[in-house]
Amino acid sequence: MHRPLGITVIRHIVDSQRLHPEATGDLSGLLNELIVAGKTISAEVNMAGLADVLGMSGKTNIQGEEVQKLDEFANNTIKKRMARCGYLCIMASEEEEDVIAVKEGYEGKYTLAFDPLDGSSNIDVNVNIGTIFSVHRRKSASGQGGLGDLLQKGSEQVAAGYILYGSSTMMVFTTGEGVQGFTLDPSVGEFYLSHPDIRTPERGKYLSANEGNSKFWMENVRAYIDSLKEEDKEKGRPYSARYIGSLVADFHRNLIAGGIFAYPRDTKNPEKPYGKLRLLYEAAPLAMLIEQAGGRAVTDDGINILDIEPSELHERVPLIIGSKLDVDEAETFLK
Ligand code: AHG
Ligand code: MN
Ligand code: MN
Repeated sequence: MHRPLGITVIRHIVDSQRLHPEATGDLSGLLNELIVAGKTISAEVNMAGLADVLGMSGKTNIQGEEVQKLDEFANNTIKKRMARCGYLCIMASEEEEDVIAVKEGYEGKYTLAFDPLDGSSNIDVNVNIGTIFSVHRRKSASGQGGLGDLLQKGSEQVAAGYILYGSSTMMVFTTGEGVQGFTLDPSVGEFYLSHPDIRTPERGKYLSANEGNSKFWMENVRAYIDSLKEEDKEKGRPYSARYIGSLVADFHRNLIAGGIFAYPRDTKNPEKPYGKLRLLYEAAPLAMLIEQAGGRAVTDDGINILDIEPSELHERVPLIIGSKLDVDEAETFLK
């Protein structure tokens, strides 16, 4: 069968590195290792229905959530591979309370924060899940990194992206020069460029939020979400409701087709006054991606996600993210 001479993700990374004569190739190497981890997880996810990786591992993570075996597999796959890649000085994972050291003698100049498997509630029901990652340049001089290397603003990210394990496995990432999407050809084991220079429509057609929480939202947030359901021909409203329950899948659909995703704070759970999503490895990387694609990301009081100075590893932020004109309008309700 004739295969299109597709641009592989490695070819794309090397080509973009060539545009930066000062580049050492470390970021390219880091992304390449992440890609290998992603392919490994993809193979396991596609097997999940068969092998006994389904179901609970009997452990709970620092979020107090049941850790599913695939979460553990994904976490260990990334941790083990990236600890010895030689490009990182420290890591943080949603599944680990503390920072994760890299192998002695393999310290590098970047940091990695990741959500190894986003959308865990969807693992056993065969719905899209994904991996989200965020890369910063270290601040400390050398050797093993520390918390200070990880707690940096989203605007300081060097790279951000996700791997979406869905009807096909896709990798979408940015290094600050636009957003590129790649699709895995499992028979070859290569990611090919399928969505060059992704731009998100400036106004969406999808509303994506867990309306089961709506009576616990702040009044102005509820008013905003309700406004999207009013008839408005010029704005293409009412928007269609689409909620997958995997942030990475809801984000990806809106990135491509346009829309607004909201996980605002709610009064349902007093221990989580700022909603459910985490800044370091969910909101900040997706905020970099959406801005690179022409969209926006704010908290439910209108603060730009990328401007937030993190104070702790697993801090949560309310998130409203998507098409520019929709987030601009949301801001008029939120500020
Ligand atoms: P994770 O599986 O990494 O904990 O993330 C789950 C998150 C996110 O993927 C999704 O948007 C959100 O949980 C769904 O939460 P609700 O089930 O409360 O809507
Ligand atoms: Mn997640
Ligand atoms: Mn997760």
